[in-house]
Amino acid sequence: MLLKGKIALVTGSTNNIGLEIARAFAREGAMPIVHSRHGDEARKVAAEIGGDSFAADLSRSEEIDKLFQHIEAKHRRLDVLINTVAHSTKNGILEVSLDEWQQIMAINLTAYFLCIQRAARMMQAAGGGVILNISAASGERGSPGTAVYSISKGAINALTRQAAVDLAAHNIRVNGIIAGIIGTPLGRKDMGNRKTEYDTIPLKRIGRPEEVAEAAVFLASEKAAYITNTILPVDGGRMNSMGSATRS
Ligand SMILES: NC(=O)c1ccc[n+]([C@@H]2O[C@H](COP(=O)([O-])OP(=O)(O)OC[C@H]3O[C@@H](n4cnc5c(N)ncnc54)[C@H](OP(=O)(O)O)[C@@H]3O)[C@@H](O)[C@H]2O)c1
Repeated sequence: MLLKGKIALVTGSTNNIGLEIARAFAREGAMPIVHSRHGDEARKVAAEIGGDSFAADLSRSEEIDKLFQHIEAKHRRLDVLINTVAHSTKNGILEVSLDEWQQIMAINLTAYFLCIQRAARMMQAAGGGVILNISAASGERGSPGTAVYSISKGAINALTRQAAVDLAAHNIRVNGIIAGIIGTPLGRKDMGNRKTEYDTIPLKRIGRPEEVAEAAVFLASEKAAYITNTILPVDGGRMNSMGSATRS
């Protein structure tokens, strides 16, 4: 077991990538804190994998405070934070409204920052910890028509690098994962009109949430003790290949 006894908050862990990370962490001996806006769903997953749960809308800073107050009161420490929550819209730069910008940034970026700050304070007091931010290739390369999402992901990558250098002195490692095209329930059944795009992936297939989760387990574990300030693509080679397309 690579994460035995670790208290790990996985934000957005009732669906897809976050869910598989929470499951993999439980399998590796961690105590995952399952999070979603919906308490029933979070409790259901926590009961399935043997973790704790908490409901909070992370676009609201007062709810982030309540989440961390809960962790402090119930667990007394936090060893690992995995930020996964995200929303996307399809508008390009010319169509984005200020409301849309503020809403997406609040969830995709400000929530990551606030969770990192609050987690790092607890980790600092306990002598160390690990933080992982889930990001996307569009933050590094641009992606037609998902302007705010892409910009938020680029900013998350900058946040990962900044937090890594600021927090290293406190024995807190900070890394990112750039998820490639990862199979949603729809993607597993039908590649649909994105088949041409999938054909540009060097490994010629989309990824599975479980494959992102395995990378998260490794980066959170002692096996990655000398790895910080790294953003690892888990994408079948897509982002760094000449034929890459950069949606999502
Ligand atoms: N899937 C892909 O192909 C892909 C590709 C590149 C990067 N990524 C990145 O991987 C991460 C996970 O993606 P995914 O596809 O697994 O996403 P997903 O299925 O949409 O899950 C996102 C989670 O975030 C939670 N959430 C959304 N808004 C929230 C808010 N305001 N407060 C609290 N929780 C909120 C949702 O739970 P509730 O609705 O229950 O609150 C949900 O569980 C994201 O950062 C995404 O950008 C995914």
